[in-house]
Amino acid sequence: MSDPAPEKLFSPALQPAVRERFLHADGDPFTGPRAYLENAGGGLTLKAVFAADQRVGALPDNAGRDNPASREVGRAIQAGRADVATFLGAPAGTILSEQSTTACAFRLLEAAALGRRGGNLVCSQLDHASFYDAAGILAARHGLERRVAPLNRATGALDPDAVAALVDADTAAVTVIHASNITGGRTDLAAVAARVRARAPQAMIIADGAQHAQHGLVDAAGCGVDAYVFSAYKIFSKPGFAFACLSERLAARPHAQLAGKAAADWDLGTRDPGGFAAFSAVVDYLCWLGAQTAAPAPADRRGLVAAAMHAIEAHEAALSRRLLHGADGLPGLLAHARVTLHGQRDHRAGREAVFAFSVAGAPTGRLVQEFGRRGVILHDRVSDAYSGHTLAALGVREVVRVSLAHYNTPAEVDAFLRALRDLLAPA
Ligand SMILES: Cc1ncc(COP(=O)(O)O)c(C=O)c1O
Repeated sequence: MSDPAPEKLFSPALQPAVRERFLHADGDPFTGPRAYLENAGGGLTLKAVFAADQRVGALPDNAGRDNPASREVGRAIQAGRADVATFLGAPAGTILSEQSTTACAFRLLEAAALGRRGGNLVCSQLDHASFYDAAGILAARHGLERRVAPLNRATGALDPDAVAALVDADTAAVTVIHASNITGGRTDLAAVAARVRARAPQAMIIADGAQHAQHGLVDAAGCGVDAYVFSAYKIFSKPGFAFACLSERLAARPHAQLAGKAAADWDLGTRDPGGFAAFSAVVDYLCWLGAQTAAPAPADRRGLVAAAMHAIEAHEAALSRRLLHGADGLPGLLAHARVTLHGQRDHRAGREAVFAFSVAGAPTGRLVQEFGRRGVILHDRVSDAYSGHTLAALGVREVVRVSLAHYNTPAEVDAFLRALRDLLAPA
């Protein structure tokens, strides 16, 4: 596991410059000023994303025609794909674009499972339902066994050995969530991949980065997975788009496609060019942020993205310390006797800035409403189609989730802590 990120808030000059680049950072268009602390559900959208989507989405004609507008559409799609590879630290090989991470989960697992009767698919209790259910449904469809690795209740994360213990020579695929959308627990992907490869070199390792992507650098090639998937709306772009990089051996597996297309082409039909331009705008933004935070600024886009993601991690680590331990006389989340934090209590080791907690005697739905009335936007995770399996493994039926992003400020964390203190104060 890599060392925990250093803690360093953005400078007083940089923080507002960051917020200025996002739509609705300070207020909701319907309800007015508020602190947006529900970033695990979807990041705020960059203004440049909206502009790029409109500009490229409005171009007449489709790609592949002999006219300037068509050539610009084609260029935007190619540039978007290259930027996905840069963002993921992946070779420029196969970059799949889909409507959602859920769609990617079904397609990738189907490709891994096809024609492998009698084997198994390994997923985990920490997986989002997209991978957990895809593994269950596709295992049943293809006559495979679904094996489910347990999460670690103390850390709210996944232990590499717990995954490795379930794989064998008949494992077709292993799904690994990089960061939990409920507990924030972060998986050591490289350790999982190394242990799985040692026992089951044939197994396709598919990483779900939907939650990690906005919190830290992705090194898809370095951590040795066969696919790394994420949703664009979680990282400041628009909904309706997910991307994945695929290893050569996974890309070559049979998959739905037009007969005359190259084997490694995974996109189906005409994709929205605005979605590709929008993601390039995300990478442009990260390059800008990297240039503000690294001295000297790296010369290439990957280096700038890495600098930005390290600065984001450091800022979020400082915010997370404040949230858990309090500051300026405000008690932190951990100081309240009625509060239980589910998962890692350390504010930076093995976790990201997503926190699940319960308050004894208080239903989560009512708490979320009360926070909302105090201008703090949170969400709860309940035992439904998305979260039931993970909450059961954690031993609870519902939790409140507070999740931070790098545009959040210490003042917004304090708004959360103040609301919590007031809500828990004896009547
Ligand atoms: C960890 C994780 N995986 C997968 C998903 C599903 O993403 P999508 O809505 O793009 O299918 C989510 C959505 O919240 C998530 O947090």
